[in-house]
Amino acid sequence: MGRILLNLVEFLSEQMSHYNLTSKEHYLNAYQDSMEHPEKFWEEIAEENFVWRKKWENIVDWDFTKPEIKWFEGAKLNITENCIDRHLETKGDKTAILFEPNNPEDEAEHITYTQLSERVNKFANVLKDHGIKKGDRVCIYVPMIPELAISVLACARIGAVHSVVFAGFSATALATRINDCDCKMVITADGSYRGAKTIDLKGIVDEALKSCPITTDVLVVKRINSEVEMTEGRDKWVQPLLDSASPICPIEIIDAEDPLFILYTSGSTGSPKGMVHTTAGYMVYSAYTFKNIFQYQENDVYWCTADIGWITGHSYIVYGPLANGATSVMFEGVPSYPDCGRFWEIVEKHKVNQFYTAPTAIRALAKESDEFVNKYDLSSLKTLGSVGEPINEEAWNWYNEKIGKENCPIVDTWWQTETGGILISALPGITKCIPTFATLPFPGVQPALMDEDGKEITENNTNGRLCIKFPWPSMARTIWGNHTRYKETYFTAFANNYFTGDGAFRDENGNYRITGRVDDVIIVSGHNLGTAPIEDAINEHPLVAESAIVGFPHDIKGNALYGYITLKAGNYEADELKAEINALIAEKVGPIAKLNKIQFTNGLPKTRSGKIMRRILRKIACNESDQLGDISTLLNPECVEEVIEGAL
Ligand code: WTA
Repeated sequence: MGRILLNLVEFLSEQMSHYNLTSKEHYLNAYQDSMEHPEKFWEEIAEENFVWRKKWENIVDWDFTKPEIKWFEGAKLNITENCIDRHLETKGDKTAILFEPNNPEDEAEHITYTQLSERVNKFANVLKDHGIKKGDRVCIYVPMIPELAISVLACARIGAVHSVVFAGFSATALATRINDCDCKMVITADGSYRGAKTIDLKGIVDEALKSCPITTDVLVVKRINSEVEMTEGRDKWVQPLLDSASPICPIEIIDAEDPLFILYTSGSTGSPKGMVHTTAGYMVYSAYTFKNIFQYQENDVYWCTADIGWITGHSYIVYGPLANGATSVMFEGVPSYPDCGRFWEIVEKHKVNQFYTAPTAIRALAKESDEFVNKYDLSSLKTLGSVGEPINEEAWNWYNEKIGKENCPIVDTWWQTETGGILISALPGITKCIPTFATLPFPGVQPALMDEDGKEITENNTNGRLCIKFPWPSMARTIWGNHTRYKETYFTAFANNYFTGDGAFRDENGNYRITGRVDDVIIVSGHNLGTAPIEDAINEHPLVAESAIVGFPHDIKGNALYGYITLKAGNYEADELKAEINALIAEKVGPIAKLNKIQFTNGLPKTRSGKIMRRILRKIACNESDQLGDISTLLNPECVEEVIEGAL
């Protein structure tokens, strides 16, 4: 009898725990609690689900005017103790990271929690041997191989701040990021596999380091066995160092608000912004959202196809899943190699239960024959996820019918590098999924729509600029080295609110649909691109006088880039010049930022104060030149006609 009672109490308290949201009522309750008593709400989540070396003095302390945001201040912890050590006793033999290599003929690698622990500890000791200490920044420019996740965790173990740079960025882009936060060390690989291609990563690092005086050490992982040049005294192969390192590296005790990582994201203008994420709040929020938004159950196999070079990979390949003791698949390759069935082959092979990808991949695969899907058994799938850009209805339907067999909820998760974790999403099987809507805010998240005058719109069925009124634990705390820019970018447009840069529509039931960026960031194939660095690259061409980039709709990429370029006097051959301009962009920014269309014009429409009117150029690029509105106040209205005539 006593035992039954005990089980009942346990059962009830599990039902009540806000960490596992299990029903619509439960979600609504949790949401309500998080609004009415945010401190109590987050204290319970933090207290019951994580390991702390010292408890906090304060749950949240915030002031959006400064802006200053602190969560769990006074607490001490180490995120790797939460992601690894605490699972060793009960889940030591469970697969933590399931590595699926680029080549399907090569064997997948099941890295258990015990093995992960050993590899992270060894790597951490190698970092220490190279003088890396708490607070030092380490740049990680490594492809999607286990060492990427391992080196990230190794930094976290000793309190070094990792700055992962997506291993598709060019040498110039890499150098900018290394210098911006003064990375003493770069971790890289000899090269990477990408489908049928290999990429010479080490060569790119060598090129970048020519302009990075602060970097003294480069650790190189051997992946493709290519011939690389090793600079004496600076470069070392990491494997021999790992072989002789101790598998025990005690954790560094970290303050809640110590930085965990920097991750760069594009801004509307200027250089990339190094978003700084701190330790405790990020851990709590990424773990809590992972658990609920994917409804992860103990023996599930979860796969997020993102690269760890982006925030999605940080929060939902590494930290969120591992904090929950999950099995997280890490895929090295691309969806089209060796053919367009690769994703589905992997789902069948590893019996994937949760699959999380980007609309651009869905659109690309939906264009291919259904044969690529139908060959495989996808019955293990329970939940599908989408992230990175709005998912159009056609892509949503294909995902739902062909992949989910109309049997898997699709969570359209809205969030940003800056937010650290998902802020708006359905909960599968719990709240309703609606095509093209991210739907409802997660507990703790208070969205608001603002009109152009900065006033909150309280009615439903309207569009507005999306802001968040109250802090959530994983929000970025600053931009590395530039707190003023942080304040100006996110906290100035709407007083006392975090401004997301996105527009949104709210329906009569409070569901949010994200309508896209309202600034000069363009999302191409799910990658955020600021127009300024691309224009800067173009303007370096000796024949270019001026340029302006806008986005236009593209079937697969979501948006593609359209460049309007005015030239200086001189002779040129148009196609050759276009190729040179794209090569320059690839070199300075990266191949992702190449222009789909280039139009040479004699002038660009400008305001009287000399600002290029991108709004007009955007309309022309989108074939909407009949909707330009009044252009008579422009400095040079006559050039508009010419631009329209030459439009591609
Ligand atoms: C866009 C990616 C619509 C949005 C996690 C945001 C989305 C930017 C969605 C952040 C979604 C992301 N629906 N738009 N589900 N998810 N976005 O920093 O414009 O790479 O501001 O973070 O992507 O991109 P980031």
